Amino acid sequence: MRVLITGGAGFLGSHLSDAFIARGDEVFVLDTGSIAKVRHLLDQPRFHYIHDTVFNLELLDGLAAKVDLIYHLAAVVGVEYYVADPYETLNVNVNGTQNVLKAAYKYNRKVVFSSTSEVYGRNPKVPWREDDDRVLGATTIDRWCYSTSKAVGEHFCFAYFKLGLPVTVLRYFNVYGPRLDRVDVGRLFTIFMGQLLRGADLTVIGDGSQTRCFTFISDAVAATVAAGLKSAANGHAVNVGVDVETSVLEFARLMLELYGSATSKVRFVAQEEIYGNSYEDIPRRVPDNTKMRKLLGVEPEIPLQQGTAIAIEWFRREASA
Ligand SMILES: NC(=O)c1ccc[n+]([C@@H]2O[C@H](COP(=O)([O-])OP(=O)(O)OC[C@H]3O[C@@H](n4cnc5c(N)ncnc54)[C@H](O)[C@@H]3O)[C@@H](O)[C@H]2O)c1
Repeated sequence: MRVLITGGAGFLGSHLSDAFIARGDEVFVLDTGSIAKVRHLLDQPRFHYIHDTVFNLELLDGLAAKVDLIYHLAAVVGVEYYVADPYETLNVNVNGTQNVLKAAYKYNRKVVFSSTSEVYGRNPKVPWREDDDRVLGATTIDRWCYSTSKAVGEHFCFAYFKLGLPVTVLRYFNVYGPRLDRVDVGRLFTIFMGQLLRGADLTVIGDGSQTRCFTFISDAVAATVAAGLKSAANGHAVNVGVDVETSVLEFARLMLELYGSATSKVRFVAQEEIYGNSYEDIPRRVPDNTKMRKLLGVEPEIPLQQGTAIAIEWFRREASA
């Protein structure tokens, strides 16, 4: 099978590329980013890295014509990016997604769209089922542009599904593991990891009681591969995540323990100190993952303790390389 993965040089995309290469498939990655996370695949004859953008329509058309399946992961991701550059977030996540869907529609290629738990916003009723409400703040607050951009992408997906295109939407919940971002930026794990490597304190926002459901990369990839291969998933949105809640404070303590830091400890900070006034944290995010288990046939396998230990070791090795 030939698979196109937009954003395939990113965290999730690089692991997804590994999975399809391991299956014996041919993978085309279209990404504007660095090759660092897919460097190990470059000498594979079945792996093709195209350093370009989803705004290159001619290129997208040519790629859609020759593949069997399209994963659309290219996006502006990460709180610091979407708070700093809402224009680019909306442009890539909305217009880029439209470009990919249009090309896929022309050749009737199935699309798996990477959405996010952020689409539920701050809906207080957890766990979130796929048909639950989105509860968002005002458009004057940039923080909501990522959630909105992904929700628009989802609407386009379902609109194309109505036109006959096979499409599946995946909503990821805090996926972590080796190759996640650079340390100190991006997501909770890498921020804590950077602080641990420097022997600095782990900055926990507020009182740390806000919870996340951390999903190890191999579990997320298993669900992602299944979504592409199972036609039963066509026309569906599916939460991809573990339904075990962990508070940010518990997670910080787990990382301290597994890393074995002699110098770092937890430091509580005000949210404004980190993100300014334009950010609003979500107190609880929990997926109802029934559809992931029933429709995709994927059970999460890696508990947080094990996954965090694997990821810490990977980042520690990288830092000393
Ligand atoms: N990792 C998670 O926990 C998580 C959670 C929710 C949603 N997601 C979604 O999954 C997808 C992948 O996320 P990730 O964690 O791997 O993030 P990532 O930032 O590592 O990957 C995104 C990739 O998209 C590329 N990209 C950006 N603009 C592009 C463009 N115009 N053309 C082509 N490529 C472009 C980037 O260079 C990057 O490599 C994203 O769509 C994201 O919204 C991830």
